[in-house]
Amino acid sequence: ASSKSGAATQKWQKVGTVAELDKTGQLLLADSPVGAVLVVGTSKAAKDLSAVNPTCTHKGCTVVWKTNKNQFVCPCHDAEFARDGKVQEGPAEKPLKTYIAKIESDSVFVKI
Ligand code: FES
Repeated sequence: ASSKSGAATQKWQKVGTVAELDKTGQLLLADSPVGAVLVVGTSKAAKDLSAVNPTCTHKGCTVVWKTNKNQFVCPCHDAEFARDGKVQEGPAEKPLKTYIAKIESDSVFVKI
């Protein structure tokens, strides 16, 4: 029997293909049971893949991944987050929610 309550079992969910990820260095799963999930990285450094909920913890704008800065940046009040979700620059105080990402054959998955 499955239950929706509390600590439901996490499942691997496909976000997209490795080709899509490698093209732009990011992949967005817009609509999942936990909301949006943004995966950043490439298959060349698969162990450095990061997956976050891109909803800013300040006031809820959507953060943007900046490959050159290696940071998520919020367009609303310029909060900055490291690729592991940690706050690097306010006004946000709480880290972005993170997820585990992996590549398997030609697909990118997150555990949500
Ligand atoms: Fe992101 Fe304010 S909503 S910094």
